[in-house]
Amino acid sequence: VSMRDMEGLSVVVTAGPTREFMDPVRFISNPSSGKMGYSLAKTAWYRGADVELITGPVSMSSPHGVRVTKVVSALDMMDAAVESMAGCDIMVKAAAVGDYRFTSVSEKKIKRKGTDSVEITMINNPDIAAKLGSIKKPDQTLVGFAAETDNLLSNATEKLNSKGLDLIAANDLTEEGSGFDSETNNVTLLDREGSLKKISGTKEDVADMIWDRVLEIRGKS
Ligand code: C5P
Repeated sequence: VSMRDMEGLSVVVTAGPTREFMDPVRFISNPSSGKMGYSLAKTAWYRGADVELITGPVSMSSPHGVRVTKVVSALDMMDAAVESMAGCDIMVKAAAVGDYRFTSVSEKKIKRKGTDSVEITMINNPDIAAKLGSIKKPDQTLVGFAAETDNLLSNATEKLNSKGLDLIAANDLTEEGSGFDSETNNVTLLDREGSLKKISGTKEDVADMIWDRVLEIRGKS
C-alpha cells in the first residue's frame, strides 16, 4: 500500500458517544471511548486524505492534522454530519449514537421532591446513517458499524441494506478484545455484494484495513 493512497479524498468520520441531557446536570450516554473513530481519522490523515472528525464527548485529544467538530447530542451530530455529507467522498459512521432522547429537557435541575421513583419518557432519535444513506450520491461511499451481542451477520446485513450503506463493520460485543472500551477490535466487513472479510488487530490496524477495503470498493465502481 502506498503511504499516500488517500490523497485527494475528502473523508468524514463520526466518533464517540452522544449525550442526551435530562436537565442541566444529568444525561444518558454509553461507554464508547471513540477509539475506533479516532483511529480511522488518524490513519486516513496519514494516508493523505482531507479529514473531518465529528466527535461526541471523549477523553482523547484531537488527532493531528484533522479538522474536529465537537458535538454533544444525537441531534447535534445529525446536523453536523448532514452538513458535511455534501462535500465528502467517504463518510464513516463510527459513532455510538444514542437511540433515544428525553421528550423534554428541564431548564432547571430536577429535584428529588421526596418521591421514591421518577418517570421519564424518551423518544427516538433520528437514524443518522439512514438519513445519510438516503441523500448519498452514487460516487460517495458510506460505511457503518454494527455492534451486536447476537445474530451478528444477519443483523449487520439488515443494517447494511436498510440504511443504504456500502460497507458495514460488524462487531461482536461478546468476543474478547472487541467493542466499546477495548484497545483492539475484531470485525467482519460486509459489502453490498455479500462479500465477507474478517479482520482483527489494534483499532489502528483495523482502521487501515477498513480504508483498504473502502478503496477497493471505490476502485470497482
Ligand atoms: O445502532 P445501530 O446498530 O443501528 O448502528 C448501526 C450504524 O448506524 C452505526 O454506524 C451507527 O453509527 C449508525 N447510527 C446512526 N444514528 C443512529 C443510530 C445508529 O448513525 N441514531
